[in-house]
Amino acid sequence: MSSNTAEKGTITWQSPSNIALVKYWGKHGNQLPRNPSLSMTLKESSTTTTLSYKKRLPGREVALQFLFDGTPNRIFEKRIAAYLNSLLADYPFLAAYNLTLDSSNTFPHSSGIASSAAAFSALALCVMSLKQIVAGEQEESSFFREASQLARLGSGSACRSVYGGYSVWGSLSNVSGYSDEYAVPLLSEVHPVFQSFYDTILIVSAEKKKVGSSAGHALMERHPFALSRFRQANEHTAELIEVLKSGDLKRYIEVVENEALTLHGLMMSSTPGFILIRKETIEIIEKIREFRKTENIPVAFTLDAGPNVHVLYPAAHRAGVMKFIKEELEELCDERRWIDDSLGTGPKQLKG
Ligand code: PMV
Repeated sequence: MSSNTAEKGTITWQSPSNIALVKYWGKHGNQLPRNPSLSMTLKESSTTTTLSYKKRLPGREVALQFLFDGTPNRIFEKRIAAYLNSLLADYPFLAAYNLTLDSSNTFPHSSGIASSAAAFSALALCVMSLKQIVAGEQEESSFFREASQLARLGSGSACRSVYGGYSVWGSLSNVSGYSDEYAVPLLSEVHPVFQSFYDTILIVSAEKKKVGSSAGHALMERHPFALSRFRQANEHTAELIEVLKSGDLKRYIEVVENEALTLHGLMMSSTPGFILIRKETIEIIEKIREFRKTENIPVAFTLDAGPNVHVLYPAAHRAGVMKFIKEELEELCDERRWIDDSLGTGPKQLKG
């Protein structure tokens, strides 16, 4: 039983990161995507956030203290306070508490794992749990939909992390039921081959990103390929939804790898253009393609906005792919580092 009251209490959510299979690249308005995207929620890579709240006289702004790994962090605190202040029109109760947030990650910083997706989904879920305490219980599906919408306002891709399995964010031209405002989960309709899936993340470089995602999204505004890219992402998302239902691994590999290379192609061909992949990234990609052909093992790669390679494969091929990674890919990683992850079941409330 929770001892939380409307006066004071503690809420803890653990929420995972996700890796996009169809990439969100280009935004407008208040964190609205230019194209739909589809992601796989991770299992091991997550953020745990504890929100402690205590009633105070309502102020004009939130009263926030932010700790990372138990240590005050002023940089994160400023960003999170600005985010929470931007929610006050719809969530005025946030200014009626002294708030303390304490966050920690299961994965190392700058490992190429989308930390903002895990962080903002965990935070949005804490805000939603506090809302329930203040305003009363809410039906589960609307709770997560609203959490997804709130997470999106912090970091676009975070809206896909509030669900386990696979999530789709962004409205599709010819398929109803999807929205630019929040993500929608796919898990119940997914073919068994895609229900037990690995993502082994090869760390080519742990250096901080040279170009942040906001700057990257902005470059799509006057990108010469923008319109055809947005159309392609629409088609890929609609197709991948069907592929995930039918279990078509061959097409999965084609679409997912094309998405990864398209994302980096867009980065290279924007003005100014930038290159985030490294020579090891290319070497790994070529080795994966060669291995797939000679061993006939359905393994795919994807990339996020960085040089690290996500190796994606069904559980049935775990042993073969792990052997390949250790024998041929590990030596191309920074300090032979890789992170083992897999498809996850989504966020968990640990307290409150
Ligand atoms: O959520 P943002 O604004 O950090 O953008 C994420 C963009 C990519 O990670 C490159 C792709 C995606 O869909 O996650």
